Amino acid sequence: MVKIAPSILSADFSKLADEIKSVEQDVDYIHVDVMDGHFVPNITIGPLIVDAIRPVTDLPLDVHLMIENPDRYVPQFAQAGADLISVHVEACSHLHRVIQQIRHEGVKPGVVINPATPVSAIEPILEDVDLVLVMTVNPGFGGQSFIESTLSKIERLKELKNQYGYNYEIEVDGGVKASTAKACVDAGAEVLVAGSAIFNHDDRSSAVRTIKKSYEQ
Ligand code: DX5
Ligand code: ZN
Repeated sequence: MVKIAPSILSADFSKLADEIKSVEQDVDYIHVDVMDGHFVPNITIGPLIVDAIRPVTDLPLDVHLMIENPDRYVPQFAQAGADLISVHVEACSHLHRVIQQIRHEGVKPGVVINPATPVSAIEPILEDVDLVLVMTVNPGFGGQSFIESTLSKIERLKELKNQYGYNYEIEVDGGVKASTAKACVDAGAEVLVAGSAIFNHDDRSSAVRTIKKSYEQ
C-alpha cells in the first residue's frame, strides 16, 4: 500500500489544526517542511510549530529539514514530537553522525537527495536509514513542476533495497499529483508527499482519492 503524506506547506497556516484534521482520515503521515532561508531560499516552520501540531493528530509527523547544520536542531525537533526526521545529504558534512544522532533521539532517520544529486552520494548510508526521500523538484516552494529525470533514481533505490534487503521506505516530494503519481509508484515510490495537489482543493478527501486512483487502476 502506497502511503500519502500531505505537506502542510500548502495549508492555511491561520488554522493549521483544522487543516490537519481535514486530511487525517485519508492519509498516512503529516509532512512538515522546515526551511531556513540558507539551504533553500524560503523560511517556514520551526520546532514551535511541530510542538503545537503534535497534540492535534496521532499520525506520524514526517519532518523534512531543508536547513544548514541540521545537527544543531535535531534535538529540538525530536522533543517537539517528530516521528521521522530527514536531512539533506547536501547539507551534512558528517552524514553518519547526524543519522546516528536522530536515532539516538528516538526518532526514525531519513536522508534526502536533491534532483541533481545521484543515488551514489547516499549509498554508504542506505543501511542506516528508515526513509530515503527523493526530491522531484528543487526544494524551497510548493507548487513546482515535477522533474522527470528523478524517476530513474527511484528505480535505482528500489533495486538496491531489493538487492541488499534494506529497510528504508522510498518517498518522493515535489510536483506529485494525479498526472505524476503513477510514474513515481511504478518506479518504486512507497510514500507520496503532496502539498498543492491536496491543500489547494476544498474537498481534501476527493483530492487524495484523485491521486490514489491515478495509480490504483
Ligand atoms: C518543497 C517541499 C515540498 C512541497 C511540495 O520544497 O519539500 O514538500 O511542499 O509541494 P507540492 O506538492 O505542491 O509540489
Ligand atoms: Zn518536503
